[in-house]
Amino acid sequence: MIGSMSRRSMLQTAGVVAATSMTSPVLAAEKRLPGADFLWGAATAGHQVEGGNVNSDSWIMEHLKPSAFAEPSGDACDSWNRWREDIDLVRRFGLDTYRFGIEWSRIEPEMGEYSSAALAHYRTMVDYCAQVGLRAFVTYSHFTVPRWFAALGGWEEPANVDHFVRFCEMATRALGPNYGHALTFNEPNLAAQLSWQPDFRRTMPYFAMGNQAAAKAIGSDRFSATPTFDIDRALPNQLAAHRRACEAIKALRPDLILGLSLALADEQAAPGGSALERKIAQVYAPWFEAVAKDDFIGVQTYGRAVVGPELDLPPPAGVELTQTGMEFFPEALEATVQWAARATGRPVIVTENGVATTDDTRRIAYIDRALAGLARARAAGTDVRGYIHWSLLDNFEWNRAYTAQFGLVAVDRRTFVRTPKPSAFHLGRKAQRGGI
Ligand code: BGC
Repeated sequence: MIGSMSRRSMLQTAGVVAATSMTSPVLAAEKRLPGADFLWGAATAGHQVEGGNVNSDSWIMEHLKPSAFAEPSGDACDSWNRWREDIDLVRRFGLDTYRFGIEWSRIEPEMGEYSSAALAHYRTMVDYCAQVGLRAFVTYSHFTVPRWFAALGGWEEPANVDHFVRFCEMATRALGPNYGHALTFNEPNLAAQLSWQPDFRRTMPYFAMGNQAAAKAIGSDRFSATPTFDIDRALPNQLAAHRRACEAIKALRPDLILGLSLALADEQAAPGGSALERKIAQVYAPWFEAVAKDDFIGVQTYGRAVVGPELDLPPPAGVELTQTGMEFFPEALEATVQWAARATGRPVIVTENGVATTDDTRRIAYIDRALAGLARARAAGTDVRGYIHWSLLDNFEWNRAYTAQFGLVAVDRRTFVRTPKPSAFHLGRKAQRGGI
């Protein structure tokens, strides 16, 4: 880790500044391939798979008592060490894209101190993807932030936007040319969306207590973790962070296909009174407007929300539920991609879609029905350019910790041995046939 060298010389020392041009011959060749415009992939996020992300806001929140988290993330899937194995799996299934996150708190564990080792690590991942013929799809921010950033007020503090933009610049220089797609933010609207869910509202007090206890523990009365920040205070700062990060990243990589992803449920009005319009105005509208300037919109859909007069309604009695208590409703994806395309005028990439279940036959059914919906949406003229499944691995599912299995691959919690499930090969065969 380095404190006082200039950023460029730091990176040169670490061997992570692209020696030549930032345009990749690999990506240029890939763009000429037939059908190369449709991505087939699987996704992970740094904090959920790497393990030992000790300088993040989440790590603090996970270790408080009481905590909203069922268990701390701990070693997660040990992907910090086993990332090569993970990438090899994506390729073995016949997919062509690996979406993963880079962890800001590893790269900048203290304000202004950048870890050349962490930057080189992510550069190696990106380069390895290119080397084995996979597209690397990078998420700059997947919820977690460095603890120092949370201590400064996190997304609630306008002055903090500069820190994020600087991190994005650093990372873009370090990652080099071998990634073609990126998201600035993963689901920046999630906190707003969750605030409409009765279940989450019940967990909110634990998060709030966590924020207070964390503030006390680290001696900052401004501590603000994701996703428990004040939505209204954070929104203008998040929007500015996205816009300014895009400008900074594009200045270095004008060829990069860049956007953000949104948590998008198939929003439906409950008969007999619904606050649907109010919800859409709060949770989605500001982001749709922001995305209209991006290269694409990343759609992340897990099901539908039926909006009652005040909040979302719980799923009706008798419907099949997933491990996270949602209705099993893969058809939601058809509606959300059409809605996102219409609302933003941008091409759509499904950057997450999946189901938490211990029964892999239900995952296969979910994939089939979601892809059938995607095919209908495409046939109806919606410009969908990719399907990236959540998740490659059974991983740390935030406050549910390890109790929800979203993975195409099971991970032994003690040995970290990866065991692919039939759904992984099923999705891979679909990708190979190129048909949805
Ligand atoms: C998030 C993932 C999460 C998934 C399943 C998405 O909201 O991006 O981090 O694991 O949903 O809950």
